[in-house]
Amino acid sequence: MQITLESKAFGATETDALVTYVFENGDVAQGRAAELDKLAGGLIAQLSKSGELTGKTLETTLLHAPHGLKATRLLLIGAGKRDQFNSATLRKIAGVAVRYLKSRSVHKFVFVVREGNATEESAQAIAEGVVIGDFETDKYKTDKKNDKFIESVSIAGYANGEKSAGEKGIAKGRTIGEAQNFTRDLVNEPSNKLTPRVLAEKAQAMAKDAGLAVEVLDEKKIADMKMGALLSVAQGSVEPPRMIVITYTPANAKTGAPVIGLVGKAVTFDTGGISIKPADGMEKMKYDMAGGATMIGIMRALAALKPSVKVICVVPATENMPGGRAQKPGDIQTAMSGKTIEVLNTDAEGRLILADAVHYAKQLGATHLVDAATLTGAIVVALANVNVGVFGSDQPWTDKLLASAKAAGEKMWQLPMDDEYREFIKGSFADIQNIGSGKGGGSITGAWFIREFAGDTPWIHLDIAGTAWNDDAKPWLAKGPTGVALRTLVHLVMSQ
Ligand code: BES
Ligand code: ZN
Ligand code: ZN
Repeated sequence: MQITLESKAFGATETDALVTYVFENGDVAQGRAAELDKLAGGLIAQLSKSGELTGKTLETTLLHAPHGLKATRLLLIGAGKRDQFNSATLRKIAGVAVRYLKSRSVHKFVFVVREGNATEESAQAIAEGVVIGDFETDKYKTDKKNDKFIESVSIAGYANGEKSAGEKGIAKGRTIGEAQNFTRDLVNEPSNKLTPRVLAEKAQAMAKDAGLAVEVLDEKKIADMKMGALLSVAQGSVEPPRMIVITYTPANAKTGAPVIGLVGKAVTFDTGGISIKPADGMEKMKYDMAGGATMIGIMRALAALKPSVKVICVVPATENMPGGRAQKPGDIQTAMSGKTIEVLNTDAEGRLILADAVHYAKQLGATHLVDAATLTGAIVVALANVNVGVFGSDQPWTDKLLASAKAAGEKMWQLPMDDEYREFIKGSFADIQNIGSGKGGGSITGAWFIREFAGDTPWIHLDIAGTAWNDDAKPWLAKGPTGVALRTLVHLVMSQ
């Protein structure tokens, strides 16, 4: 898909569709909406007056052959209240435009930003919105809808002095949107196509293409390094595990500067192991590698955006299977750090593999950690599929993350980590146990388990179990993997 800045005046633009957004409360009499209305002979004002066009968020109104315009169609998308409008809404509007027009076999459109919105931030949000909105999960369908595609989007409304900001925003937004789709592609793969080995190969290929350093530890190296927690999960499967490490080093790396460690859970399929999951809905557990895929996607974006901080991405990849050699409830394992773990439930496997990955990231020099994981069903109970669960050991570091989430338009909510919850995972027969002792707070005890391995290193845990998968298509987003947290973490790294 091409994304460019439009130089023609929008009344004179020949295109399949001209798209803009309108606010609530009679906004059509103002600014660019009024300009368009004038060109179209009062058509928009008429629709507004009749009550058909209200400006309610993401409402769509399509006009065919609008008189006075050179465009074949005019699509008006509701933007809600003007004083609540932000780039998160604009991103969604752009996504709606793509999905709405694509389903009607439109191939090209011009997107007009409203007066006052011709900024770098807007162009970035629009580019992200159209790229993310364009993503489909039909890779394995043989009956392709060949006439449904968007070939080009051109953004109008930028004056000459605003064009370089617009170009910058488009480039950045495209990079980030494509990285998010790269992640979603990985998450969408079923577990028979994406084993830990295949994930490692794909990460390696991406890193080579992007010019990033990459190292993949195989099962032998993992054993040599005594990553006992990762191995304990992997031992139930015939597919060997992998530890994937991708490193971005800035051109003028300073010694003593912070190093960000991004750790992502990649269980390519989670059956639960011997503590096996119910059959109903188990197919969704192919997305249990979304945290890892997010971190790999972030590295792809960072290679292009070139932040000034070093970033180490560590992704432990394994299946969780109930094979003949699988670990059993009650087994005691020794993590790479030397801590002993009583495995009371083999389905709480994410925290086990993250234990070794977090320890390894610190050993590789990470001074600030973030992990992302589809860790607990309990986070869905707490926050549904709306907010990412945020846990942190260091409030200033966590506050930076929350600020980045706001800027990136991703909903995240911090949960408490009082010391009392730490008691829930005190081991009876080993240092620590992998589930809480029956007192609720499942997402918090999961977070505490990982924190034990982060130690004093500032650390954030993102529980994306509720938000990494979209059960129903949204007007701006396909059903399936969302790529959540990628934009937030790219923003966090870029703002260091
Ligand atoms: N991968 C699951 C968590 C999950 C649940 C992800 C629903 C996506 C949707 C994780 O490994 C798991 O099974 N967690 C257990 C932990 C429990 C045994 C303490 C859970 O949440 O039930
Ligand atoms: Zn599990
Ligand atoms: Zn899992």
